[in-house]
Amino acid sequence: MPHRPITLRSPLALTLAAAVGAALLTPLAGAASPAPVCVRSPSGALELCTYAQGGHAYYRLQRDGVALLAPSELGLVFAGEQATPVRAGRVVQRGSHDEHWQQPWGEERVIRDHHNELRVNFSSTRKERSFDVVFRLFDDGLGWRYEYRQIPAGAAVAISDERTEFNFADRYQAWWFEAHHPANLEAVYQHADLEAVRSAELPFTIERPGTLMSIHQAALVDFASMYLQGRGKGRFKAALYPWADGIAVRKTGPFTTPWRTVLVGSTPAQLADSRITLNLNEPSKIADTSWIKPMKYAGVWWEIHLGKGTWKSGPEHAANTANVKRYMDFAQRSGLGGVLVEGWNEGWDGDWGKGVEFRFDRPYPDFDTGEITRYGKSLGVELIGHHETGGATENYASQLERGMDYYRDFGVAAVKTGYVANGGHYPRTAANGTTVYEWYAGQYMVNFHARVNAAAAARHISVVAHEPVMDTGLRRTWPNMLSREGARGQEYNAWGKPTNAPEHVTILSFTRMLAGPMDFTPGIFDLEFGKTVVDQRVQSTLANQLALYVVLYSPVQMVPDLPENYAKYPDAFQFIRDVPVDWERSRTLDSVIGDYAIVARQQRGAPDWYLGAVNDENARSVTVALDFLEAGKRYEATIYRDASDADYRSKPQAYEIVRQQVAAGDKLTLAMAAGGGCAIRFRALD
Ligand code: NOJ
Ligand code: CA
Repeated sequence: MPHRPITLRSPLALTLAAAVGAALLTPLAGAASPAPVCVRSPSGALELCTYAQGGHAYYRLQRDGVALLAPSELGLVFAGEQATPVRAGRVVQRGSHDEHWQQPWGEERVIRDHHNELRVNFSSTRKERSFDVVFRLFDDGLGWRYEYRQIPAGAAVAISDERTEFNFADRYQAWWFEAHHPANLEAVYQHADLEAVRSAELPFTIERPGTLMSIHQAALVDFASMYLQGRGKGRFKAALYPWADGIAVRKTGPFTTPWRTVLVGSTPAQLADSRITLNLNEPSKIADTSWIKPMKYAGVWWEIHLGKGTWKSGPEHAANTANVKRYMDFAQRSGLGGVLVEGWNEGWDGDWGKGVEFRFDRPYPDFDTGEITRYGKSLGVELIGHHETGGATENYASQLERGMDYYRDFGVAAVKTGYVANGGHYPRTAANGTTVYEWYAGQYMVNFHARVNAAAAARHISVVAHEPVMDTGLRRTWPNMLSREGARGQEYNAWGKPTNAPEHVTILSFTRMLAGPMDFTPGIFDLEFGKTVVDQRVQSTLANQLALYVVLYSPVQMVPDLPENYAKYPDAFQFIRDVPVDWERSRTLDSVIGDYAIVARQQRGAPDWYLGAVNDENARSVTVALDFLEAGKRYEATIYRDASDADYRSKPQAYEIVRQQVAAGDKLTLAMAAGGGCAIRFRALD
């Protein structure tokens, strides 16, 4: 298929566009008038209006004349201060922007950034509390951020709370889990009426027939992560994970907040295909991205989770040179780019959750980093490094440069980081020498992750962060932030207390995945691993596991099961060999949150398409139109589907592979078992 041309617009073109855009927008109210100031999205469908009333700033949002968000407050609260009244919003600037930009890797090669912008100033008698709000209206949602530009340079600022509200104008069903979870972002999604939500992590997705919204943030830099507090009757307030002393955010001098975002769609698919989060991030700070490599990778990993080897040293130690070489051989045979090895370094012997024992340049004696990386190079397989911190950030910080140097010197190009700790228990030494505990998503940890990433980037190392702060699209600015965890992944299916229910993966596409790529680690073939109790094992069929490679986007996808388990199903394993990790374009198809999710993606730089469909616990058939395929081309579809007797409870490994020729305009009916799925490769024939 021909590539869409990229229009990179010159500053002059943008200025002209701004002038034209301004002329097309809603006429302005007089500068000093209390009348609302409004801006529409490029198609006109979304309209946002903002104004001040009673000394407070507000916005409201409507779509096609129907209210989505009723008047909701804007702004921040500063520590120890009463609200400083603001005056009517004065339009400072309007503009419109239409640009295509290219991702070095991603779910979509070329992204369109098409929005109208409105900058409004809310002034206060205390000029340092005056602020601008910059709104960007896209056709599929909006973002805004606050700019406190009149704070004197060098002045210390303490923000204690956020005023931002989201007062939904209608009744909705919500998909969410509570904030302040001890397992960070690894909680089971709940589904209930909006009224039931007391607090929520982001992205927070709500739906009613024909209308869906998802609240999130973009470009979370040097700020605390936001979550929502429910106040009943569809009213929500933004809140910030505070420092141990209760201050939410500390800044110096003038500052800009991250973007607050609302995705709006008529279908779940429209939310999933929105690129607003990326569009609201800054362009790449890494000029040469050639060293950043999407890849599939194996790991000395799942066997440890199954209890077949240990992280700690001793007779069962999994990260030994011979075992790593065995996985490297498997990776080479299977066309995988790397092998992740956990438990390779000193520190895993005691209660490794404490973290202070980890040494980032000291392998256990049976792990020969030089020999392993030499062997890997001879096979064309990379060692993927691992830095588990146990949440002991100061211990890690004291070795960060050394630890990254160590990997760079062995030619390691990607490191998985880990921060296993209770969500509110990241120790930090305060100025008075006492130990205080920070939130996993407060400003301290947000900045810590940024520091680790910068140290890695300086050495041409990419990062896959587990126990991360939720993604906010920063991979655009730092393309070496390859992927993150940030939800219950496959590992929960080894632990059995209980494992992920089938519907979990049908919810992720419309919640967690709206934030960015996830290192879920799909692809387990031995779904039962000797367990007879269903909720103690992987609650899916084998076809479902294949489909996850397409459904859950990540530029690094693990192939986690034991090599001997893949060897039992070579025909199904062919899908894992074939499926790419870098895409030309992605289209989410008809999906129902919590029931099934279907995604089609075109391989980057090739005409082939792939489709993944995952199903919840109820068997169902769904018919999909193949109109994403290029018109006029014929494709051979290789369909990996549940056999007619497959069921995640009784026959999870029952699959069949069928081939048929198809073209755009055809329809396919996907029959999915309970806990099942379907994975398809569409190979272009002409
Ligand atoms: C949690 C990570 O998510 C998992 O992948 C890892 O194996 C363990 N921590 C131990 O490092
Ligand atoms: Ca369901």
